[in-house]
Amino acid sequence: MSKTKLFSPGPVMVRNDVRETLLHYDICHRSPEFEEMFIDTQEKIKYLFQADNSYYALLISGSGTAANETVLSSIFKPGEAALLIRNGAFGERLQEILDQYAIPYVDCAFEWGQHPDTEAIRQALAAYPEVTFAAMVYHETSTGMINPVGEVGALCTQLGKRLFVDCVSAAGGELISVADKNISIATSVGGKCVGAYPGSAYVCAKEDILKSLTAAQCRNVYLSLYKHYQNAVTTHQTPNTPNVNLFWPLNKALSNIAQEGIERRVEGRQRCANILREGVKQLGLKILLEEHRSNTVTSVFLPSGVDLSAFIAAMEARGYTLYKGKGKFEAMGMFQIANMGEIYEADCFEFLDALKACLAALQA
Ligand SMILES: Cc1ncc(COP(=O)(O)O)c(C=O)c1O
Repeated sequence: MSKTKLFSPGPVMVRNDVRETLLHYDICHRSPEFEEMFIDTQEKIKYLFQADNSYYALLISGSGTAANETVLSSIFKPGEAALLIRNGAFGERLQEILDQYAIPYVDCAFEWGQHPDTEAIRQALAAYPEVTFAAMVYHETSTGMINPVGEVGALCTQLGKRLFVDCVSAAGGELISVADKNISIATSVGGKCVGAYPGSAYVCAKEDILKSLTAAQCRNVYLSLYKHYQNAVTTHQTPNTPNVNLFWPLNKALSNIAQEGIERRVEGRQRCANILREGVKQLGLKILLEEHRSNTVTSVFLPSGVDLSAFIAAMEARGYTLYKGKGKFEAMGMFQIANMGEIYEADCFEFLDALKACLAALQA
């Protein structure tokens, strides 16, 4: 159902039984039927994050950024600050949100592609009593790196801080387990590794944090975490008219993951990533990361002399959508191969054949 195979890091290939739910008959979002679907989706989000009953899940109509903005614009009371840990484009996206809302933060910045130094993070957490939350990205999609979330979570717990993690490109692709990793708030969206559509975002948060929110501390009207929580606990609904039509596919994709089991799902992603990485190496291409690699994004450098835009266009013509690297990596001829959605091992082998032929044609 897609013109090209999406090996892009979102949107992703969607399973037919997920797509079919877009044709669900119309319902009102102020109805028992919606409430039933809402509650069921909340439980499935908790399963996705391996969250225990101290967590509570909320649905946000919008993209992954909307979920991140809901959290960051809501969780700080006057006088409180964030510790921002960043090492790529999506860490910088969190920074943009903090800047926009004039939320004070300590900036723990690392080079794009550098694994964050947990000792530097420990020192920064200990040095600033006004810091209440650390904020970081689980899977920095712009490089494909998995950040040391478990280590930072342990430090936060030791030092009496909470941890917010952007899991937009990680949920469904990695074993996150929020409780084990001391993550207090996690966000994600349907249109990435769970294999549904963009626009169906969600938050999974420790309920004590949600209970402690006030209306006044939330700085955005539409994306108020307080309002989302209050509406959910009192009515099992959303504050405004939600993307009901996108929540059905989210619910179905999450049901599929629950049925398969999150461990098996993640193992499948890992197998595909290994096939892609092995194949790319056999073609003589250099991969950005040798360690801390995610299960779903591989960043690869083109051979010198091959133009990045021409390559992306040629792969598109061969039926594959890929992304250029972001920032400095684009100038270095880097592209990204993602295996986030419904991509299986046979698809990866076919992709590698197309990649080989494409490079041969461009180098001829
Ligand atoms: C880690 C991460 N955070 C945030 C976003 C932004 O998500 P969206 O484009 O759905 O707003 C992305 C998108 O790729 C991402 O990979």
